[in-house]
Amino acid sequence: MALEIRGLRVSYNIEGRGIEVVRGLDLDINKGECVGLVGESGCGKSTVGLAITRLIPERKGSITAGNILLGDKDVLTLGPDGLRDVRRSKVSYVFQDPFSSLNPVFTVYDQLKEALPDKRNADEIISGTLESVGLSGIIGNKKIYPHELSGGMQQRVMIAMAIMPNPGLLILDEPTTALDVTVQNQILDLVARLKDEMKLSVLFISHDLRTVFRISDRVFVMYAGKIVEKGLKQNISLKPGHPYTVGLMDSMPSFERRKQKFNAIEGRAPLFSELPKGCKFYPRCKFRVDDCALREPGMEIVSGEDHVSRCIRIKEIALDGISKS
Ligand SMILES: Nc1ncnc2c1ncn2[C@@H]1O[C@H](COP(=O)(O)OP(=O)(O)OP(=O)(O)O)[C@@H](O)[C@H]1O
Ligand code: SF4
Ligand SMILES: [Mg+2]
Repeated sequence: MALEIRGLRVSYNIEGRGIEVVRGLDLDINKGECVGLVGESGCGKSTVGLAITRLIPERKGSITAGNILLGDKDVLTLGPDGLRDVRRSKVSYVFQDPFSSLNPVFTVYDQLKEALPDKRNADEIISGTLESVGLSGIIGNKKIYPHELSGGMQQRVMIAMAIMPNPGLLILDEPTTALDVTVQNQILDLVARLKDEMKLSVLFISHDLRTVFRISDRVFVMYAGKIVEKGLKQNISLKPGHPYTVGLMDSMPSFERRKQKFNAIEGRAPLFSELPKGCKFYPRCKFRVDDCALREPGMEIVSGEDHVSRCIRIKEIALDGISKS
């Protein structure tokens, strides 16, 4: 297994008190697999991504419980040397906005070189990597600065920097959100190709279910700091197992529905400081019954052990085929 997160809890200091925003999260990624982590803005996706290499800013927040296993090491127990090694060569990140991730005062070449843990044969490795991310046009050009590249090319540079240390795990946090749709698709194709060629394990974080379905092998749906559904991409896309996932699917723009108003999920996600006691989706759920408000549901099987959902009504709902309603 490339990554196994168990019972992760993260709190931020908000208005003088610790508010938990990741509330006991389990997630795993097999070697060579792309896992999509999807949910509305503010549900805690980036916090999970940052926690994996303990990048939650100190003083702003802390990891309060859980295990984050990378191979046989628990990141949460590593000392400074071990953590440095993980951040340098085991886990790489690509974030949403490539321009603000690149340093405007250094050349692209210098920044690529800086990302290499071992600078021997740097030119050869940089050329090979630029070729593999579709930037052969700038190979050998050591004078080019980030602002001279388009947004899509900048994101390719970020991906080149991320894969150069040959990491076991690549975390992409909304990597295409700042790009236009054609470029988005090109970047997704690139990530899919690199994943296969380099046998990379990938955590792909996005609020956009369309993008997540396109790239992932398995999908984890997150709501209010916890996973509410997980399963193979094809199972979830054909037969979603949680009313929240159905809501996300209904609000997806599609060609057939381009003239219709999107069916956005009603209401807003609850504040972490005021979460309801039972199912956290209860106030917005079309299928709620009184029992849903009593306690937070555990994971129920939707269709085989690999497809599970945090909804007490999932058996009735799945039978009724509500995803078509
Ligand atoms: N440094 C911080 N200090 C205090 N609260 C924070 C901090 N970072 C995030 N939060 C809060 O934690 C919650 C989860 O934030 P996070 O950025 O992980 O969500 P997200 O799912 O990545 O959202 P988005 O889709 O908008 O990127 C939000 O309520 C956010 O306001
Ligand atoms: S447990 Fe109840 S409120 Fe929660 S998602 Fe299922 S039906 Fe809706
Ligand atoms: Mg985020």
